Amino acid sequence: MNEKALIKIVKNLMKEPKGILAIDESMPTCNKRFIKLGVPTTKEKRQEYRELLITAPDIERYISGYILFDETIRQKTKDNKSFVSVLQSKGIEVGIKVDAGVLDFKDHEGEKITDGLDGLNDRLKEYKSLGATFAKWRAVYTIGENTPSEDCIKKNAEIFAEYASLCQENNIVPIVEPEVLMDGDHNIEKCYDVTAKNLQIVFDELKKAGIFLPGMILKTSMVIPGKDSKVAVFNMEIAQNTIKCLREKVPNEIGGIVFLSGGQDDIEAIKNLNAMRNLGPLPWFLTFSYGRAIQNGALQAWAKNGNDVVGAQELLLQSAKNSSLASIGKYEN
Ligand code: 13P
Repeated sequence: MNEKALIKIVKNLMKEPKGILAIDESMPTCNKRFIKLGVPTTKEKRQEYRELLITAPDIERYISGYILFDETIRQKTKDNKSFVSVLQSKGIEVGIKVDAGVLDFKDHEGEKITDGLDGLNDRLKEYKSLGATFAKWRAVYTIGENTPSEDCIKKNAEIFAEYASLCQENNIVPIVEPEVLMDGDHNIEKCYDVTAKNLQIVFDELKKAGIFLPGMILKTSMVIPGKDSKVAVFNMEIAQNTIKCLREKVPNEIGGIVFLSGGQDDIEAIKNLNAMRNLGPLPWFLTFSYGRAIQNGALQAWAKNGNDVVGAQELLLQSAKNSSLASIGKYEN
């Protein structure tokens, strides 16, 4: 492991006023979103859409890294430039989703374990040769009466530690993404408790495995009520709960913390981040790594009129700019 090399990548990613754009939807997830909007689920259409996202002019003012999917890291623009070279020419770090999705957790109904450790070392080496400097691995937890169980939390945490260790051995910065899903009608207190317990166990395992914390990034969900909860909560309440939880459970030495949007309304995700930044000073660099909250407008516009790429790119840029402003606490609606 080359600690200096890892820190250099982290510094380039965690650079004010920027954040990370996630465009790493797996084939089934991407297809699901296309079907909903009437877009054919072909490789060509996925290429066309991802080209729009990757070539958006001036996006590097707000975005320091893109997370790609296996298919995307190998694709090229219509005029034959690799997607990776387009990003690199703008000084944007190239990231890659390396988990292989989730499997049912044996004997634990409704719980999931993330798959993909088999052959991971070889895949990391290949991705590195293709230009990747950071990676992402996501685990999901559903809040229910008896979930997530300690077994599920512990198992996923052990897997995170193995993944992060392999990444760092290959001088790739690991993003560790434990996502507490918004599904359900739980309140914010329940989400707090689950997130806190989960983060405690994740960091216990990462430390036990000797993970170099300044050379990794945590990607987390916010502490937020379930999407079927009927109780309205202000942005400031979400911000205060999230920051309190992170202060309690996330070591100060970590390279940075980024948020996923997780199906929140786009503007709410941006306002919540903005509120958090105004609670500073914070012990870690804090920014966004949104997928849907930045892509939604552009995807809908492109699905409606595939010829107006410039219009869709303008919407993408606007959402990236709003997220960037929120990352420095300067978003005004
Ligand atoms: P969302 O912001 O759409 O939740 O996506 C972020 C991500 O990377 C999920 O794994």
